[in-house]
Amino acid sequence: MSVQAEVLLSIEPEVDALATEILRDVEEDANWQPTDLVPDPATDEGYARIQTLKSEAAELSNQLVLVTAGNLITEEALPSYQTAFNRHIGLNDQTGVDDSPWARWSRAWTAEEKRHGSAMSLWARFSGRINMRAVESTIQHLIGNGFDVKTDNDPYEVLVFTSFQEQATLVSHKNVAKQAGEAGDSHLQKICDLVGTDEARHARFYKTAGRLVFRADPDGALVALANMMKKKISMPAERMYDGSNPNLFADFSEMAQQIGVYTSEKYVEIMELCNQYWSVEKLIPQTDAGRKAQDFVASLPDRYRKLASRRKPKEVPLARFSWLTQPAGT
Ligand SMILES: [Fe+2]
Ligand SMILES: [Fe+2]
Repeated sequence: MSVQAEVLLSIEPEVDALATEILRDVEEDANWQPTDLVPDPATDEGYARIQTLKSEAAELSNQLVLVTAGNLITEEALPSYQTAFNRHIGLNDQTGVDDSPWARWSRAWTAEEKRHGSAMSLWARFSGRINMRAVESTIQHLIGNGFDVKTDNDPYEVLVFTSFQEQATLVSHKNVAKQAGEAGDSHLQKICDLVGTDEARHARFYKTAGRLVFRADPDGALVALANMMKKKISMPAERMYDGSNPNLFADFSEMAQQIGVYTSEKYVEIMELCNQYWSVEKLIPQTDAGRKAQDFVASLPDRYRKLASRRKPKEVPLARFSWLTQPAGT
């Protein structure tokens, strides 16, 4: 058994308690399902409320609608993320019904995540703002194209990745919720707010599990963190394609940056947050590799902040995207 797998096994009792604390019971009253968040067209009242949802969505900027579509596509590529997680020995669910806390977490996490793309798709369908066929083609391309998490199957590295990524999606969904609320769209606001709250719980799980790993194997964890930072956290939807735009992901990221939903400054903040959460600068590594890794990760936020401040925003023409229907009134 690798050192990593041994460490992950040794912290299972704490991971079990953590998963139990963070996961929500499907049947508890406060739990939600996508259907709760949009009107039910089967009733006359619900049918009428669809009109309200649609007129609220008509007030959103094209840019915000596009970023929402990109976030929805990212969520819908969930099969790639569960597959990526399960490739890591020590965390993986070997039978599909394993009893280990890591396996139980990975299934329950996926089950909670599944609601995100579904809820956003229901909204998108009723909003009248999104070309659903183009979005669906992009999802099919994206899942088919795959996703390289770039961890070399190292389980510590994937815990670093998920800590960053859940924190990033939390920021992105909460910012969409805020901007949708400001534009008067109560439906999109509520959906993205609930999705963002799920991401916050998931981020807490991964960061806390990461803290257990840092405590049990500080040098190994530092090296894993440094490795991931060198490779840069890959964006889950970077291989998205809609059949026409070869730079679709770059255009989507630029649009998210432009409207302040997810920015390079946020990436630096997440780096700092993880460094603090894992007390990276206070650790006392025992090996040269550990010390080198510590110096590297401690210096990164400042370096990235400088790069971010020099970054010139680029205008992204709406015509590069196939995801919009014609906006209302045009
Ligand atoms: Fe999600
Ligand atoms: Fe997530």
